[in-house]
Amino acid sequence: MKDKILQKLKNADGNYVSGEQLGMDLNVSRTAVWKYIKELKEEGYVIESSSKKGYRLSFVPDIINSFEVKNGLNTKIIGKNVHCLEEVDSTNNYAKRLAQEGCEEGTVVIAEIQTEGRGRMGRSWHSMGNKGIWMSVVLRPVISPEEIQVITLAASLAVVSALNEVLGIEAGIKWPNDVILDGKKVCGILTEMNMEMERVNFLISGIGLNFSQQESDFPEEIRDKATSLGIYLKEKHGLDISKIKRTQLIKMILFKFEEVYDKVNSDNGDDVVKEWKKYCITLGKEVCINYRTKQYTGTALDVDTKGRLLVRCSDGVTREVSSGEVSVRGLLGYS
Ligand code: BTN
Repeated sequence: MKDKILQKLKNADGNYVSGEQLGMDLNVSRTAVWKYIKELKEEGYVIESSSKKGYRLSFVPDIINSFEVKNGLNTKIIGKNVHCLEEVDSTNNYAKRLAQEGCEEGTVVIAEIQTEGRGRMGRSWHSMGNKGIWMSVVLRPVISPEEIQVITLAASLAVVSALNEVLGIEAGIKWPNDVILDGKKVCGILTEMNMEMERVNFLISGIGLNFSQQESDFPEEIRDKATSLGIYLKEKHGLDISKIKRTQLIKMILFKFEEVYDKVNSDNGDDVVKEWKKYCITLGKEVCINYRTKQYTGTALDVDTKGRLLVRCSDGVTREVSSGEVSVRGLLGYS
């Protein structure tokens, strides 16, 4: 009911709607309307009340709730079910539990705070409250396990396309899926899969996007490697991130993700890799690969149709890298 009232106020486009009208349209008493309005105000929505004219929505806060995420979200699968949590250990863990219980494909989990946010290679992911986008998407692709890497790439492609569409900025991608702005990491993606034999049961694509942190919000050890959209927009364009709502970006990421994911599922994974390569800042660079206990250096030549990085190593051998840590000379501390 609260969502319906919010929708009515939004539809009124800044004009007043009378409490009586709201009550009649939604078949509830004026007192009930007043109670829901009070709840919305407590969440941070600014709603002006006038005894003669009724209620007017004058400000929508930067909060993430399922109403704001779904409102105007133009997708068929991704985001049909959205779970918004105040605090969770990790949205990937929560999404995994939902997937094991059989949730629908495209279910999205978003949290304000992650107490145990996880990164790739067993690292932790610093997930400060209200300053980032920490979300996971449950997918059930009908492809073989070795094609999964392309979906990982699809997520970073969705993020850079959304950043371009909403903010007009051009981010790069460091293989496999670190989104880079001005030489620093603004977004990381953790893809985890559950499979049996040759079949993928489900896949969780976890996206961590630094939104409005200041430099001092990051732990000291990552300050020279990490950035946020807020820092970047202020430094490069003199823009204030508070003008942007996180839900605006979330919706665009989900929309772009579905677009790319559809292509992967309909056998157009090659096109996705081709598009992804346009943003890739790893190709042609000198890289250092840490894979299990081994370390190689070489030149990143290409990314194949399965999303593997092809590296001509200094020992003359060209290796296909499908996972592991790749650092690029001159970027994020590798020099
Ligand atoms: C990386 O190491 O670059 C990947 C970071 C992924 C972080 C996101 S935040 C949402 C989701 N939940 C997690 O615990 N991790 C991912």
